[in-house]
Amino acid sequence: MEQILSYIDANRERYLAELKELLAIPSVSSQTERKPDMRLAAEWLKNHMLNIGLQNGQIMETEGHPVVYADWLGAQGQPTLLVYGHYDVQPEDPVDLWMTPPFESTERDGNLYARGTADDKGQIFIHLKAIEAFLKNGGVLPLNIKIIFEGEEEIGSDNLSKFVSEHKELLKADLIVISDSDMFAKGVPSITYALRGITYMEVEVTGPNTDLHSGSFGGVMHNPIQALTEMIASLHDKNGRITVKGMYDDVRPLTKAERAAFKKLPWNDKKYAKSLGLKKLYGEKGFTTLERLWARPTLECNGIWGGYTGEGAKTVLPSKAFAKISMRIVPDQSSAKIAKLFEKHLKAIAPKTVDVKVRNLHGGEPAITSIDSPGVQAAVAALEKGFGKKPLYQRDGASIPIIVDFKKILGIDSVLLGFGIPEENAHAPNEFIILDNFFGGIKTTAHYYHELPEFWKKGKKKK
Ligand code: BES
Ligand code: MN
Ligand code: MN
Repeated sequence: MEQILSYIDANRERYLAELKELLAIPSVSSQTERKPDMRLAAEWLKNHMLNIGLQNGQIMETEGHPVVYADWLGAQGQPTLLVYGHYDVQPEDPVDLWMTPPFESTERDGNLYARGTADDKGQIFIHLKAIEAFLKNGGVLPLNIKIIFEGEEEIGSDNLSKFVSEHKELLKADLIVISDSDMFAKGVPSITYALRGITYMEVEVTGPNTDLHSGSFGGVMHNPIQALTEMIASLHDKNGRITVKGMYDDVRPLTKAERAAFKKLPWNDKKYAKSLGLKKLYGEKGFTTLERLWARPTLECNGIWGGYTGEGAKTVLPSKAFAKISMRIVPDQSSAKIAKLFEKHLKAIAPKTVDVKVRNLHGGEPAITSIDSPGVQAAVAALEKGFGKKPLYQRDGASIPIIVDFKKILGIDSVLLGFGIPEENAHAPNEFIILDNFFGGIKTTAHYYHELPEFWKKGKKKK
C-alpha cells in the first residue's frame, strides 16, 4: 500500500489536469442539444479506462444515453466489485450566478469548482485514479473490478434498469460500490446506509380555452394559477404534514435506537438555518431536522409557471398553469403507489371550475441497507485509513434509484462510499469538490479495494 499511496501523492497535478478535461465536457443529460457531449464524455471515459490499464472498455447502447463499461478480472479467487457512477450532470443554469464558468474548472480556497465536480464526475474519477495507482504499480488489483458509468442518473435512470436486466451476466458481482453521496460534513467521513426514494409529478391546470384579456374577462372565471396555487397550498396542514390521503400509511417508523443515534450526531439547527440564509427552519412537527431530512416523506413544489413572466406588465388571464411536484419517500413506501395516491388526491380536491391533469414523470424506490455487512465494515476501515478518523453512520435525503433495481434484478447490495459534502452546491451554481476529499477519496478507495477481500472472506465464514 505504501507504494500505491505515494504514487497518488506524486501524481496529484496530473490527476487534477485529467479530471478537468472530463469536467470540460458539458454532458447534461436532460438537454437534447447536449447529446453529442454525452457521447463525447462516454468516449473520453472509455479511452481513459483503457489507458489506465482496465480491460474490455466499451460504450454500450441503451434507448437513451450510453453506458460505459470496463473491467479488470485478474484476481482469481477474490471477490468482484461492481463500481457504479454517472457521467451525466445537471444543467448549469442559472449561469449568471457562477463565479467562474461551469465547464472551466477553477481551483479556489482548496476547492475545485465546475459542474460535475462532486456530482458525480469527480467521484467516479476517484475510483479510476485509485485503480490506476494499482495497475501502474505492479499491474494487479487486490480484487476483480467491473465498472459501469451511466448517463441518465440525473433524469431518473429509466433506461438503466432495462440495461441491467439485459446484461445480468456481464454485471454479475459480489458487491456494488457507489461514490455519489456525501460525508456528514467537511472533515467528517461517513457511511450512508439509507437514501430516500422519489415520486416526481407534473400538474397541468386548464381554465379557458385561450389566454384572455384580464379586464374584459376578469371576474367571471377561476384563474388556473389561482386554482393551482390553492390546491398546492392545501397539500400541507398547519403542522407541516402532507395532506395527500394515505401518504403516511407505509412509512416505517423510526426506531428508538435510530432516533437516539441521530441525536448523537454533531448538529445545530440555528447554525444550519443561518448557513442556508433561512430566517427559520420549517417542517413536519414532532421530528428533528435530521429525522425530517433522512427518514420522513416530503412533498415539494419544484417549479410553477403560467401566464406572463416576461419584462414589465401584461394584463392576461392564462389558459393554463403548471407545477412540478416531487415527493421524497422513505421505507416502506412505494413510488408507484404514492404516484397513484397523489393523482387521486389532486383529482379529489380539484375545483369544478378547472380541468386538472396529473402526470408521473419518474420515480425511484427508497434504499436502506444493514450496517454490519462486510462491505460496509470494509468501508469503515478504509475511511478510517483514508481520512484518519472513524466514520459516522448517517442516512441521506437524496435518491439513487438504481440501488433498489440492482438489488431486485442482480441480487447485489450496494455500499455508499461518498466524498461530497452537502454544501458543495450540487445541482446549483458554483458546484465544487473539496480537494482534500478528492485526494482523501482516492486513498480511501485504494484502501477499500485492499481491505474488501479480507472482510468479504471473514463475512462468508460467519455465514
Ligand atoms: N448524487 C445524487 C444523490 C445523492 C446526493 C445521494 C447527496 C446522497 C447524497 C444524485 O445524482 C441525484 O441527484 N439524484 C437525484 C435522483 C433523481 C433525479 C431521480 C435526486 O436525488 O434528486
Ligand atoms: Mn449523483
Ligand atoms: Mn445529482
